Amino acid sequence: MTSSQDEIWLRDYEPDDAQATIDIFLRAIREVASRDYDPAQIAAWAKVEDAEIWGQYRASRPTWLAMIGSTPVGFTDLKADGCLDMMFVSPDHQGKGVASLLLAMVEKAARKKGLQRIFTEASLTARPFFERKGFTVLAAQKVEKRGQTLSNFLMEKALA
Ligand SMILES: CC(C)(COP(=O)(O)OP(=O)(O)OC[C@H]1O[C@@H](n2cnc3c(N)ncnc32)[C@H](O)[C@@H]1OP(=O)(O)O)[C@@H](O)C(=O)NCCC(=O)NCCS
Repeated sequence: MTSSQDEIWLRDYEPDDAQATIDIFLRAIREVASRDYDPAQIAAWAKVEDAEIWGQYRASRPTWLAMIGSTPVGFTDLKADGCLDMMFVSPDHQGKGVASLLLAMVEKAARKKGLQRIFTEASLTARPFFERKGFTVLAAQKVEKRGQTLSNFLMEKALA
């Protein structure tokens, strides 16, 4: 049964959310994306060297948190050029529509700004999610992270 305690709701990122978003980021990579990348790649990706710099990045663009009750369970953002930079959902709350709700917010904000399209560099893990949501692959890419080479996909969605 769905109770109000299971409902997912969104709010804007606040400065105090740096650690919660770091925890979601690290766990989503280590426990979910780890099925698609090898341990050395995961170790290189799942690193946050400076929580303060992390917080500055999150606060530098609109960033939204998905909440269940008072617990942050996911986050996303939208840069001024239409780049959706981050999309991470807690391993404890996968497959519940958290990313769907976050993406709907990104699309709404992008339309409001008059953007014609949004784009992202999707992990192997996230590609099926973005395809399901109407994104198409523009290019398969290899990116360097701390000495490791990781595959991802440049994907875009036109906004009608
Ligand atoms: C990709 C991710 C953000 C999806 O989050 P989520 O909250 O579980 O996604 P949702 O529950 O909103 O799923 C929405 C739809 O996408 C589909 N989907 C999500 N992940 C999928 C996957 N790996 N394979 C196939 N379909 C997938 C769901 O089945 C659902 O389809 P439906 O509408 O037909 O039911 C999440 O799995 C994640 O955090 N992954 C690890 C971190 C990562 O790689 N982030 C992206 C960095 S670019």
